[in-house]
Amino acid sequence: MRHYHSYDELIRNNARWAVEKTRKDHKYFEMLSEYQAPPFLYIGCSDSRVPIDTLTQTEPGELFIHRNIANQVILTDINLLSAVEYAIEVLQVRHIVVCGHYECGGIAGAYHNNLRGLKENWTSRIKDLSRIHREELDSLPDEKARLDRLTELNVVDQVQNLFKISEIERLIEAGLQGGYYPRLHGWVLDLRSGLIKDLELPLQHWKANGVVPSNYQEY
Ligand code: CO
Repeated sequence: MRHYHSYDELIRNNARWAVEKTRKDHKYFEMLSEYQAPPFLYIGCSDSRVPIDTLTQTEPGELFIHRNIANQVILTDINLLSAVEYAIEVLQVRHIVVCGHYECGGIAGAYHNNLRGLKENWTSRIKDLSRIHREELDSLPDEKARLDRLTELNVVDQVQNLFKISEIERLIEAGLQGGYYPRLHGWVLDLRSGLIKDLELPLQHWKANGVVPSNYQEY
């Protein structure tokens, strides 16, 4: 059976961790508290099994993080939009990653239409996606494959939404003249192996549709 830490243990573990960090590097917290300049903005699912810093072996100060149910990029979500604005204007992150994960409750709930209340509103785009891609999803061998594919389609859709955020559009347009602009990526974490899949984005299609400037470079 799985062991969960007790509430008290969280605080004790933290104290032990801080002592250990200081023992290894006595300036660790002095440096950490001075400033942040993370190269990455990470937008992921709230799911407890996707702690991206653990999964990528990154340290405090490397990832600026925004999480919500099923990693949605909703263009009227002031929480997400202000995090993105801060990340690109103040921190000037080099990369923005949207990361979904297989076995996502938000994806399955939207697909089966059994989420109620605000959770249903929140995931309504995923329901749309499962309708839009019905033919492709139905052609897959089983439900697991359909949910996995819907997870990927959702990530790609959310990256496309990122490109539509006016601040990002403006930055890319200006950056293409020779300045800074962030690169956008879509990932899926496979909880069954612990491995991240870097999804191929339909950039040619997006460029043809005018969602992405034609000279945008992925890296
Ligand atoms: Co999830």
